[in-house]
Amino acid sequence: MDSVALDRPAAQLRAELRAARAHTDALFALVDPPTLYERPIPDRHRLIFYLGHFDAFDWNQLARGVLVLPPFHPSFDRLFEAGIDPPPGQAPGDRPSDWPEIDAVRAYVKRARQVLDEAWDDLPTERVLTALEHRWMHAETLCYLLHELRPSQKRAPAPSPAQPQPPGRASAHGRTPWVAIPAGVARLGQEQGAFGWDNEFPPYEVAVAAFEIARHKLTNGEYLRFVADGGPAPHFWRERDGALRLRCMFDDVPLPLDAPVYLTQQQAVAYATWAGARLPTEAEWQRAAYGHGTRRYPWGDAAPEAARANLDFVAWDPLPVTAHRAGATPLGVEQMLGNGWEWTATPFAGFDGFAPRPYYPGYSANFFDGAHYVMKGGSPRTARRLARPSFRNWFRAEYPYAYATVRLARS
Ligand SMILES: [Fe+2]
Repeated sequence: MDSVALDRPAAQLRAELRAARAHTDALFALVDPPTLYERPIPDRHRLIFYLGHFDAFDWNQLARGVLVLPPFHPSFDRLFEAGIDPPPGQAPGDRPSDWPEIDAVRAYVKRARQVLDEAWDDLPTERVLTALEHRWMHAETLCYLLHELRPSQKRAPAPSPAQPQPPGRASAHGRTPWVAIPAGVARLGQEQGAFGWDNEFPPYEVAVAAFEIARHKLTNGEYLRFVADGGPAPHFWRERDGALRLRCMFDDVPLPLDAPVYLTQQQAVAYATWAGARLPTEAEWQRAAYGHGTRRYPWGDAAPEAARANLDFVAWDPLPVTAHRAGATPLGVEQMLGNGWEWTATPFAGFDGFAPRPYYPGYSANFFDGAHYVMKGGSPRTARRLARPSFRNWFRAEYPYAYATVRLARS
């Protein structure tokens, strides 16, 4: 699996880090400087934290952790070190004036990058990949924050020629057919010697009983019937002049009935119960997407492209659930990669034999609390680097801001 091999040429990794920095820099440029002091999600830090965090992480991990260089701004090293994920009702109470000036943060970022770039050849590949993937993951979570700003607070970039248009009004997508997944083995986790986060190790195989999984992700149109029967409305829906709309990144549009519904894990479970189905376990999801673990992507080994998956920043928002037939699995399950993470029924925990990395002990273990659930797949704003079979994502069951949907299962 060469996209995650640890023997990658340094020049190629350097180019990737440059691209990732340019990507996150461009996200901050979507808003005016005063907006960086806003807190778009109540239980996350203000945007200004993230302006410093990505490079503080690189600095703390690589310059201080690997190269043991002396700090040049120790208070910023600490201030921008780690994000927050408080339990419900414990949102932070800091004020904008508690945070430093933007110019001071930018100067810190610039210097951290300069020092790291000069020391590049002394950095071990695994540690560089940790920094690189950390930044790519935040490229997505920063979008969750920017999504919550009012449209007037953001500048939409010019669409690239390859970028699909945002979803418009569409006819209701009919009830999705079921696909039978035969009993067999699912392979979870990452091979030793390849890059992965602590929670991807050790790899293991598990027997999965025969079950059925939905060919498509759950749509807004299907979920609408649940709402009409008293179910909770998803966070991304809006009602205006009596009509339902979807709040996209830069505007809102009439609710696209054939796009995946983004919802919480609690809402997904409630819908599944109402519909007489259930969520797949992580192992079931893995088997539906990757069979017994011999292909790189759900469709095979060919690289992701826009026809196969709404992934890797091609679009800002979800597309219809039937838009990627070319990315179906051999059994015909569509869109297991991209267009929205998929909640599973599995609480986030370490595999048997889990060991935290000494240089980042809290990455996963801090969330093994029964309150967070595994999500698999990827969203329109997930970097292709993270689209490996073993990658695991997780959020609190009631977290409403993620680009996360569900695909039903039944025994
Ligand atoms: Fe982080």
